[in-house]
Amino acid sequence: MTQGTPTPTPQPVDPDAGPIGVSRVIDHPPIPAKLAGPPVVEFRNVTKTYNAGRPNAHTAIRDVSFVVQDIKDVGEFVCVLGPSGCGKSTVLRLIAGLEPQHPATTGEVQVLGRPVTGAGADRGMVFQDYTSFDHRTVLDNVTFGLECRGVSRKDRHDLGRQWIQRVGLNVDVDQYKYPHELSGGMRQRVAIARTLILRPRIILMDEPFGALDPHTRMNMQDLLVTLWREVEATVFFVTHSIEEAVYLGDRVYIMSNSPGTLLREMEVEPANRPSRQMQREPRFQETVAYIRDLISELEESRAAE
Ligand SMILES: Nc1ncnc2c1ncn2[C@@H]1O[C@H](COP(=O)(O)OP(=O)(O)OP(=O)(O)O)[C@@H](O)[C@H]1O
Ligand SMILES: [Mg+2]
Repeated sequence: MTQGTPTPTPQPVDPDAGPIGVSRVIDHPPIPAKLAGPPVVEFRNVTKTYNAGRPNAHTAIRDVSFVVQDIKDVGEFVCVLGPSGCGKSTVLRLIAGLEPQHPATTGEVQVLGRPVTGAGADRGMVFQDYTSFDHRTVLDNVTFGLECRGVSRKDRHDLGRQWIQRVGLNVDVDQYKYPHELSGGMRQRVAIARTLILRPRIILMDEPFGALDPHTRMNMQDLLVTLWREVEATVFFVTHSIEEAVYLGDRVYIMSNSPGTLLREMEVEPANRPSRQMQREPRFQETVAYIRDLISELEESRAAE
């Protein structure tokens, strides 16, 4: 750390602090009364060191613990925010069971009450970069997972067309297109349809709207909220946009960096009005400003190191 530079440390949470705009900081989240079963996701003191035991070993996250409860008939929308490199994607891919993030170096990652041993049909992932198969049409991309599961051509095409429509694409025209014939927003609609058609319990999204223009992004946010209510899945959504996290999230996790730890957990009012409307409200902006200051403090403290 540079000599003489005071390191701003985020202030401890005052349990009596009350609401901050549309949100509330929570120290120990209450256990909801109507639990359906084991937690959807649980991290118990999870640490991930890449290249452990080698000279280039790097601890990306340290001692991360959290619980996302399975509330009956409702999936929670959990957004993860934090400075670049703090381990957000690492957390997401540990839940997904994808290497080399999986397995954790120490601690335990559980999904629906069981330790994660690899990828599984209960979890679906949507990435920022458009990950469709270039040589497949929209319909064949959307139905790819069903094909892997051995669903008949007719059934998967019927369901595929339904999902193409549900994500706001034009079935008649778009089902025959190839990914290079689509805009970025349309490709993310395909990616969402391809994931949701499989009805995963947990949807993992890593900056899925990061490359979209603000207008398309807001439309996609509203679409996602509508679809998420229908499928009742738990969503983990990583984003760099504080507005997006506060709008979409029921719960926002704020991570600090080097190595990443979970710094704050906030409960946020649900996205029960359109993105454009909620984002104009002063209470919404108060929450955004609070989180922005918190993350700036974190980034400044890192720069001073
Ligand atoms: N496969 C890997 N091997 C070695 N180090 C890695 C690997 N993946 C990530 N890291 C390191 O772990 C840290 C956390 O990375 P991660 O991708 O989880 O961060 P992030 O919060 O998603 O960042 P961003 O916001 O930029 O996407 C970074 O320092 C990164 O360089
Ligand atoms: Mg990332």
